[in-house]
Amino acid sequence: MINALRGMKDLLLPESEKYLYFIENCSRIAKNYGFEFISTPILEESALFKRSVGESSDIVGKEMYEFIDKGDNKVCLRPEGTAGIVRSFIQNKTDRTGGVKRFFYYGPMFRYEKPQKGRFRQFYQFGVESFGVSDVKEDAAIILMLNEILNFFKIKTVLKLNSLGCSACMPSYRIKLVKFLDSLDGLCDDCMRRKVLNPIRVLDCKNAQCQSLLTNAPLLIDALCDECKSDFENLKSILDKFHINYEIDPKLVRGLDYYSKTAFEFVSADIGAQSSIAGGGRYDRLVEILGGKPTPAIGFAIGVDRILELVFLDEKKRDGIYIGTIEREAQDLAFLAAVTLRRRNKVDIEFEAKGLKNILKNADKANAKYCVCIGENELRSGILWVKNLDTKENFGIKKELLGEFTW
Ligand code: HAM
Repeated sequence: MINALRGMKDLLLPESEKYLYFIENCSRIAKNYGFEFISTPILEESALFKRSVGESSDIVGKEMYEFIDKGDNKVCLRPEGTAGIVRSFIQNKTDRTGGVKRFFYYGPMFRYEKPQKGRFRQFYQFGVESFGVSDVKEDAAIILMLNEILNFFKIKTVLKLNSLGCSACMPSYRIKLVKFLDSLDGLCDDCMRRKVLNPIRVLDCKNAQCQSLLTNAPLLIDALCDECKSDFENLKSILDKFHINYEIDPKLVRGLDYYSKTAFEFVSADIGAQSSIAGGGRYDRLVEILGGKPTPAIGFAIGVDRILELVFLDEKKRDGIYIGTIEREAQDLAFLAAVTLRRRNKVDIEFEAKGLKNILKNADKANAKYCVCIGENELRSGILWVKNLDTKENFGIKKELLGEFTW
């Protein structure tokens, strides 16, 4: 008996149906906002994530599914989607053509984390990435879109917002922060590592002792340059105009190193300790860091697994045709009928059923609108027995006329 690996699971009904419903509606909303679908490989060179997500992040430091392939390449199952899309954006020379490009994507991501409720080693994200717009209206549009998605599924969340500054204000703040961190005694080992690699990551350490030491830490939001300050004010005023509630969280730094300026997370009180449903932000330096032409960019990703438990499917209308046969001799006719009907309808088929009662029960379970039964009588007469499961009426249809009937 071989089981799925720890932290990985099969998506079965009803989750699999919710997954499709969720992705279909996110895709529809993203297209309304001018985003096009992109799909990038699940396997990438490890260096891509080291240079983008960053050495100080837990993702690169501890969680990568990394191995050497048969060609001696150091490769990695993608832990997130942004880096691969930036790689593709540069590789396909889209950075050279200028203009604006907006992508949406979905699929599995892999992080070797300790599995628990809402935290898996293979999980699914739906995300968007927008390239070429530095105006803060793009930040607002992205947050409005994410808000629209959450509203569509009637999911209650709190939006946490912060600004992480830019290359003008970040370096001097960093010096101030490191000076403060150096004065502390008792930071955890992770924070000691982060202090060297990316000191702002210390701010969102989950360790209670570190948090108590950080009470008086200097905050980036107080050290923003004029441009970052005015961008942040503009963003807040657009969100206010559209009645989007938010909380400013000066310690929200996100777990990935590539962010600058706007950073945000939507959290929910309804899903347990792993409360972050979606997160994102600006990453204006990343295209350049990965070898492309400097291009402003912003995006987000939703943790689909976490959201599915909050997604409820509408009571579905009956749909399609359920064909059942009892006698072996009826199978050819049933098969032919299914092939004909499938040109325009959804058709389920059951061979060697246990009797009419059973066929009707299974048709009901499959939520079919019509049940067609083919037995001895039908074979002889060429007239098939049909029941409309909505109206409960039954009637006969000549086998030659199956394709003409409006089901
Ligand atoms: P992230 O915050 O690392 O951001 O992940 C986004 C979302 O993925 C989280 O809010 C969470 O819902 C979900 N998630 C993360 N790890 C797990 C896990 N182990 N199990 C289940 N769900 C998980 C990013 O990945 C960025 N690439 C987002 C982004 C796009 N920023 C700019 N563009």
